[in-house]
Amino acid sequence: MKVLAGAVFCLVLYTVGGSFTSEYYENLISQRTTEARAYEMPESNVEFQRGASSPESNDFGSYDFIVVGAGSAGSVLATRLSEVPDWSVLLLEAGGEEDDFNAIPGMFPYLQFSDMNWGYFTTPQTNCCLGMRDRRCPAPRGKSVGGSGAINAVLYVRGNAKDYDKWVELGNPGWSHEEVLPYFVKSENSQIHGDEGYHGKGGVWDVEYALPPAETFSTLIDANAELNATTLDYNGLRQLGVSKTQTNIKHGKRQSAATAFLDNSRKRENLKLVTRALVTKIDIDAEGVARGVIFTTRDQKFVARAAKEVIVSAGAVNSPQLLMLSGVGPRDHLEDLEIETVADLPVGRNLQEHPHFLGLNFRTNYTAPSSDFGTAIEEYLTGLGPLTTTAEALGFLHAGDVPDDVPMIKYIFNPPSGPGGVPIADRIYNFDDDLVTNYLNKMNSSTDFGFSLILLHPKSRGRITLKSNDPIDFPNIDLNMFSESEDIDNFIEGIDFVLKLTQTEAFRRMDASLVEIPICDQFEPYSRSFWECAVRHMSMTLYHPCGTTAMGPDGTTSVVDGDLKVHGIDNLRVVDAGVFPSTISGPTNAAVIMVAEKISDVIKNYYDKTS
Ligand SMILES: Cc1cc2nc3c(=O)[nH]c(=O)nc-3n(C[C@H](O)[C@H](O)[C@H](O)COP(=O)(O)OP(=O)(O)OC[C@H]3O[C@@H](n4cnc5c(N)ncnc54)[C@H](O)[C@@H]3O)c2cc1C
Ligand SMILES: *[C@@H]1O[C@H](CO)[C@@H](O)[C@H](O)[C@H]1NC(C)=O
Ligand SMILES: *[C@@H]1O[C@H](CO)[C@@H](O)[C@H](O)[C@H]1NC(C)=O
Ligand SMILES: *[C@@H]1O[C@H](CO)[C@@H](O)[C@H](O)[C@H]1NC(C)=O
Repeated sequence: MKVLAGAVFCLVLYTVGGSFTSEYYENLISQRTTEARAYEMPESNVEFQRGASSPESNDFGSYDFIVVGAGSAGSVLATRLSEVPDWSVLLLEAGGEEDDFNAIPGMFPYLQFSDMNWGYFTTPQTNCCLGMRDRRCPAPRGKSVGGSGAINAVLYVRGNAKDYDKWVELGNPGWSHEEVLPYFVKSENSQIHGDEGYHGKGGVWDVEYALPPAETFSTLIDANAELNATTLDYNGLRQLGVSKTQTNIKHGKRQSAATAFLDNSRKRENLKLVTRALVTKIDIDAEGVARGVIFTTRDQKFVARAAKEVIVSAGAVNSPQLLMLSGVGPRDHLEDLEIETVADLPVGRNLQEHPHFLGLNFRTNYTAPSSDFGTAIEEYLTGLGPLTTTAEALGFLHAGDVPDDVPMIKYIFNPPSGPGGVPIADRIYNFDDDLVTNYLNKMNSSTDFGFSLILLHPKSRGRITLKSNDPIDFPNIDLNMFSESEDIDNFIEGIDFVLKLTQTEAFRRMDASLVEIPICDQFEPYSRSFWECAVRHMSMTLYHPCGTTAMGPDGTTSVVDGDLKVHGIDNLRVVDAGVFPSTISGPTNAAVIMVAEKISDVIKNYYDKTS
């Protein structure tokens, strides 16, 4: 009977799905990519100006929990907390909804030039981003239901077991790898054959390979074998080696935390989601208790009260901004901006990022088969092909002073992809005219492949600050990458590995040679000073800010405790990438979702509601 019902259901879906024809996608893609090329980045939250300056606030009622931000963490929290039938949850999100365009993984670069991105850039930098327009790197942050996970590159990477053991060493009991692994497994619905004991099959969050692999994938594997680097499941027992990328897609479509979690829970009567609602202040009373939030839509201002807790999940940039606007932050900075200090905490300090070097591109005598757009869409409709993929393969390398089995470097292998290449590359990298003309424009995506090189555990720290006490202003993002020269040394070890890899027999068979870097000619080519110069000019980030509301045992060096409660304030937690006390050996999304899963249980246990 169940089977029959399933079959009928599928039939209905199929008929409805029938409207999503190739023609529908062709039009959608052509319209959105055109819009992206012409998109003007906002410079503030001006869309909320009228609502924010409204003289009176309307009462939006009382809820047990108010979650700020329906991104990766917020989508999980709202879903798990609303599993308790007698709890009410209000979820407030500044952006709008996901749609069929952002579901296409291959289109992810375009999403940064749409209203699904806040539109931030870093402040002008002195140690990094030197080859970017105005020395500012892009700092995209998702602004929609699904958050940054709605615009990200869908790479599913958990990081290294020792990354979490380090969180414990930093004074946060409960976060060891052994204790967090069950939460990674709980979320996951894995379609890959990974290491025994590490993967979940019954969760809501799909993990698949984008298929088929590129023709040159085998070259990468052969080259690694020549250097004795193993092929492995980087989310399993060991991480140092190379692998096809594990991705959060389902039949080729993006699975954000909103698609995977929130879409199962948003119809619950005890969960209320409000989109296009900017939270401008957490209301903290004279006793230091969070009582609710003030938020604004385009035209109106509201007050909502929290009977139990306010949970801030606005991300590693916006959570510090909101906390500081509410008086939680470094006293000296708040005084400068005439904000009354409620709790003097190092909010916004300790910004950690993953530097991402863009200068390792190689020309070959191989030519990728040209895949025409129509075929790519046909394939997408069956869950396959180039539109389902963002990054072919990942490799992890040791360097520097991390433990032997922990990677310091990650690389992404970007194979020759046929005509087209990296979509909208000039805007994505924000390269200055010199680098666009003399580097980017000289690439040939049919013959050239590239390695994106990422430094996983930098020593340098940046900072998030406020521009003013006005929530309409964007925050300042001072990245400050490569202020510690050790980071350059470790990065150069990664460059050396990639150069060695491309000199293997496997890559020589396609005559791979480095595409000349047109800058830094005051230095001897490929000397240490040359690479340092190139790295400082041609690195941006891999969009993984964390640490800005770090967890730790006391309020001088951290903002939240191990249960993610803000030091010195009652009924207030922060749950997002900002709470990571130290970097993880991979992109941040899976770890954020793990953190939200775990804290949902911490909250349920605290109020004696077992799941
Ligand atoms: C372009 C890009 C590519 C990436 N690629 C990968 C990848 O391939 N793999 C990976 O693991 N990670 C990747 N990441 C990082 C990963 O997606 C993020 O670390 C993760 O989504 C962060 O989750 P979060 O819950 O901390 O914040 P977010 O997901 O950013 O959620 C914050 C939410 O809060 C909302 N919000 C903010 N301020 C307010 C406010 N004042 N009022 C109301 N709502 C507010 C935002 O609109 C947003 O929806 C990428 C990120 C980007 C930007
Ligand atoms: C790889 O291992 C083989 C066999 O142990 C050894 O002969 C070879 O030198 C190694 N190659 C490298 C690059 O380490
Ligand atoms: C890229 O290389 C291919 C193969 O050599 C060649 O046919 C094509 O003209 C090149 N494209 C550009 C833009 O140089
Ligand atoms: C590419 O170059 C390699 C090395 O020079 C050579 O062996 C191979 O035949 C070439 N392939 C093509 C398609 O030209």
